[in-house]
Amino acid sequence: MEVVIAPGPELGRLAAAAVEQLVREQPDAVLGLATGSSPLAVYDELARRHAEHGLSFARVRAFMLDEYVGLAADHPERYRNVIEKEIASRVDFAPGAVQGPDGLSDDLPGACAAYEDAIASVGGIDLQLLGIGTDGHVAFNEPGSSLASRTRIKTLTRQTREDNARFFGGDLDQVPQHCLTQGLATIMSARHLVLLATGRGKAEAVHQLVEGPVSAMWPATILQHHPHVTVLVDDAAASRLQLADYYRETYAAKPDWQGL
Ligand code: GLP
Repeated sequence: MEVVIAPGPELGRLAAAAVEQLVREQPDAVLGLATGSSPLAVYDELARRHAEHGLSFARVRAFMLDEYVGLAADHPERYRNVIEKEIASRVDFAPGAVQGPDGLSDDLPGACAAYEDAIASVGGIDLQLLGIGTDGHVAFNEPGSSLASRTRIKTLTRQTREDNARFFGGDLDQVPQHCLTQGLATIMSARHLVLLATGRGKAEAVHQLVEGPVSAMWPATILQHHPHVTVLVDDAAASRLQLADYYRETYAAKPDWQGL
């Protein structure tokens, strides 16, 4: 696990550079897209590189991490619509190239199985962008999630619903109780995981993710078992890391050729 501590805007550039390098080398790469505020700087930077440097996503396929259950098709907070607004509509994905779990399906278990099949059918995800919840969730894998889980329905914790109420006019009752989410094993199948976290509110979750014991109580800790994880954090999110100085020294001394 590599930990990079840098100012917020730099984190977005670093993640976007990793995406660009992948897509330039492998134009039909498969990306994993996250919602939430953490990846927004990455999406802004990718949109800029598309507009100004001709970075093309024409052959890229993308899969979303999760989706609310039951939000109307035109609801602005439906993750499919959020991803469309924040990134898909700003670059040149082919029609149908961005997929997400179907939170409006009449057969939710069937939709989850179909989603796993869709990811497998393109050979899996090359680079997965991730955020982290204040309770240590990744995607919507809340504390107690099976570390071996696959895409399935989950019930959101009150903490997560409170955290996300800001997207629903501050009204907790408007935040759905259920979601479909890639499981922890689904996420672990991606070849490179790039997790972004900023702000003091994430400091404890980041400490647990990087330095805590692996436990379903902090679902993100399963990432310690992945061979290629990049954790991009600002000073505030890094403020509880015990080995922060070591991570800074390591990154400062990193050879240029190595990349993320
Ligand atoms: C949300 C999403 C996660 C996201 C996390 C943090 O509930 N389902 O994918 O990583 O919570 O969100 P944010 O980046 O806005 O802090």
